[in-house]
Amino acid sequence: MAVHGVGLLTRLPLCVQRRSRVQRPILRLFSCPGTVAADPRREEQPSGSAETGSEDKTPKKRFSEVQKERREQAQRTVLIHCPNKISEKKFLKYLSQHGPINNHFFYESYGLYAVVEFCQKESVDSLQNGTHTPSMSTEAVIPFRSRYFNLKLKNPSNQASEQSCIQCSNQLPPSSKKVFELLRCAESIDDQLNSLLKEFQLTEENTKLRYLTCSLVEDIAAAYFPDCTVRPFGSSVNTFGKLGCDLDMFLDLDEIGKLSAVKTAGNFLMEFQVKNVPSERIATQKILSVIGECLDHFGPGCVGVQKILNARCPLVRFSHQASGFQCDLTTNNRIALKSSELLYIYGALDSRVRALVFSVRCWARAHSLTSSIPGAWITNFSLTMIVIFFLQRRSPPILPTLDSLKNLAELLLKEFFEYFGNFAFNKNSINIRQGKEQNKPDSSPLYIQNPFETSLNISKNVSQSQLQKFVDLARESAWILQQEGKDRPSASSNQPWGLAALLLPSIANGMALAKKKGKKPANETVKNLLESLKSNSAENSTNTNRKRTTSP
Ligand code: CTP
Ligand code: MG
Repeated sequence: MAVHGVGLLTRLPLCVQRRSRVQRPILRLFSCPGTVAADPRREEQPSGSAETGSEDKTPKKRFSEVQKERREQAQRTVLIHCPNKISEKKFLKYLSQHGPINNHFFYESYGLYAVVEFCQKESVDSLQNGTHTPSMSTEAVIPFRSRYFNLKLKNPSNQASEQSCIQCSNQLPPSSKKVFELLRCAESIDDQLNSLLKEFQLTEENTKLRYLTCSLVEDIAAAYFPDCTVRPFGSSVNTFGKLGCDLDMFLDLDEIGKLSAVKTAGNFLMEFQVKNVPSERIATQKILSVIGECLDHFGPGCVGVQKILNARCPLVRFSHQASGFQCDLTTNNRIALKSSELLYIYGALDSRVRALVFSVRCWARAHSLTSSIPGAWITNFSLTMIVIFFLQRRSPPILPTLDSLKNLAELLLKEFFEYFGNFAFNKNSINIRQGKEQNKPDSSPLYIQNPFETSLNISKNVSQSQLQKFVDLARESAWILQQEGKDRPSASSNQPWGLAALLLPSIANGMALAKKKGKKPANETVKNLLESLKSNSAENSTNTNRKRTTSP
């Protein structure tokens, strides 16, 4: 990501910007159809720019616009399993028989795959018409006309010699080694935060593959519900997704209702004959149950299908082998789509939001505060809300002097850890809707109000011990950042520093060791230190209304 003039975190405090340029994007980014023209340059822009808002100067699109465009793109796209030795030129020429190709890319995931986007939807029909169902000598096949194909060479021995070197797009997150190397070579913590964001954020290709996977699942679900839509939500679309994150999608049956609601003339009203069930939940369970069966039996590449129908939010979980995505399919989850839109808007307001969220997410993952397995731990969604809340609670706007601009770069991360190292989780809840702490309505250790279903706690699953681990690590990390000062070690030293030091497991080990040896835990020291920091920051700030309370 290019940083214009001053560093990502060294620009004006969030609130200063909110007044001037930020309010306009908010209005523009909310979904109200038909007010903003599409940006014709979008096609060429990688993810992390127009859509994600990581470049301030790029026009940002409304969430609904992005969804609509991506969905339409996906409908013109096919997924092809290719032989390992293939000439790209011949491959494209062969497919062009069915119509012009808009773009394509290759990737590897237990074999070579191509994602090909045609200019017109008709080309997909033409390709399907020219495709045959394989016949197996020993096994039977279930004929299903999908958009996931298998390409074979007619004459493998001739064509292997003509292979050209195929460039594959990367779909995996960077290795820890690469991350530490990048962080070590960075110029400043600001630079480190940017590097992390750049390495982990979803690429244009990965985003396309996500929408395509939803579109392929939609084709299967359409066998039962012809006018249904399968929409991605969560980190795949809210601009906070890391490469390798799961693919959350929901079956949207609302459109079916809308289609049938066309007003007709005359004295009568026509309704569909339908089956009734006692509750919405039971309807959801029944629908997901049959879609789960469909995916399991007929869905090419859908494996490990689990129907988790007794969960609070019933779902079907499966792996989409070709894309490598772990998918969670729910139904009519429009509220979650709203949360995704809200996060998309927050992410687009200021590029620092995403940089901070990515770093905090990586920090939490490095210390097993979050996990890919469901359990009592803090989820990435809760973490993101925590960061947003912190940014809402920052000191009111002050216009920084040139000297203080550099300090601001280090400040956001350090203050984030200080803030939550000292947050009164025992009595206060986090409220994004109002941007303030409120008394907790129940005794859940961590209470983050769902902004759209305000009686729900999005972090109800989090146990006291997991919360305490988060608090301890936050304090320890604030302490490390404070100790390190602002200077990075010399380039010749191999020492991890700044954010890299925070991602090392040794912070957690240090805490455990101190406890074992009966030493005064470092966070006691940290607490005292935080107290002194508090008074310092109070002096530095023009307004000191940031509340600090004792920890639980
Ligand atoms: N969600 C919610 N309430 C919860 C949990 C989840 O509304 N208690 C919604 C949010 O919109 C969230 C989405 O479901 O973004 C998907 O949840 P999850 O996969 O847990 O989080 P992600 O944001 O997708 O993050 P990750 O990268 O960890 O998958
Ligand atoms: Mg997710």
